[in-house]
Amino acid sequence: MIELRQVHAEWLDSLAPGDPLAIGSRRDIRRINRLIATHALLRAPLDRILCGATSIRIVDLGAGDGLTLLQLARHQGRNWPRVRLELLDMQPVVSARTLANYRDLGWDVEVIRADVFDWLARPASGAAPVIVANLFMHHFEGERLRALVQGIAARTSAFLCCEPRRSRTALAFSRLLGVIGCNEITRHDAMVSVRAGFNAQELSALWPEPDAWILRECAAGLFSHRFLAEAKRP
Ligand SMILES: C[S@@+](CC[C@H](N)C(=O)[O-])C[C@H]1O[C@@H](n2cnc3c(N)ncnc32)[C@H](O)[C@@H]1O
Repeated sequence: MIELRQVHAEWLDSLAPGDPLAIGSRRDIRRINRLIATHALLRAPLDRILCGATSIRIVDLGAGDGLTLLQLARHQGRNWPRVRLELLDMQPVVSARTLANYRDLGWDVEVIRADVFDWLARPASGAAPVIVANLFMHHFEGERLRALVQGIAARTSAFLCCEPRRSRTALAFSRLLGVIGCNEITRHDAMVSVRAGFNAQELSALWPEPDAWILRECAAGLFSHRFLAEAKRP
């Protein structure tokens, strides 16, 4: 375990979406997600959350190209209720093909271009969504992270995220990404992400009113850290 979180800017966030290095890095992130089996880490908790519902609204924070949930939708979507999906990102790069793929699976999908804090500051409308995030929460620290966690808790009845685990093993893996052809942006951001990743019960400690929620936070797979918060039913 690496003792303290260190949060630094990730290069991908400063590049224009059409920059070839950004395009390459997003492709690398897709490969890394496949390698570390992110969809499998998200699937079981989402199955549990969605079980029994007839329709559900899901918001994916920092959705990027929107492909992480598409992989899940393809594997699992037919067993899930009718889904209305909102892909939120300050710089979304969701292709028309990805949207068409979701719609072919029967999902209602919308892209929201917004900074997460602006979105959280808007008045909530409709049913409380299930909120998910992959490789997103670790961008934030201190009061911003606390505000993000509390804003999410105020908006949802279930929140699930998968983040880098702040461990020596994950750091060693991120140093090897050049071997599988990841570009310099990805190699830089992977190390920054691991150092900014989570451990132990760090997200649970920020969650408000813990008695009203079931919180599960643990290492997942070899390199990931998973956090799940579900509101207790009355
Ligand atoms: C490492 S990428 C993860 C993308 C995606 N979740 C995945 O699994 O491939 C992080 C994403 O968070 C977005 N992001 C960072 N800060 C944000 C903010 N304050 N509000 C909204 N999106 C943000 C970035 O634009 C980027 O697409």
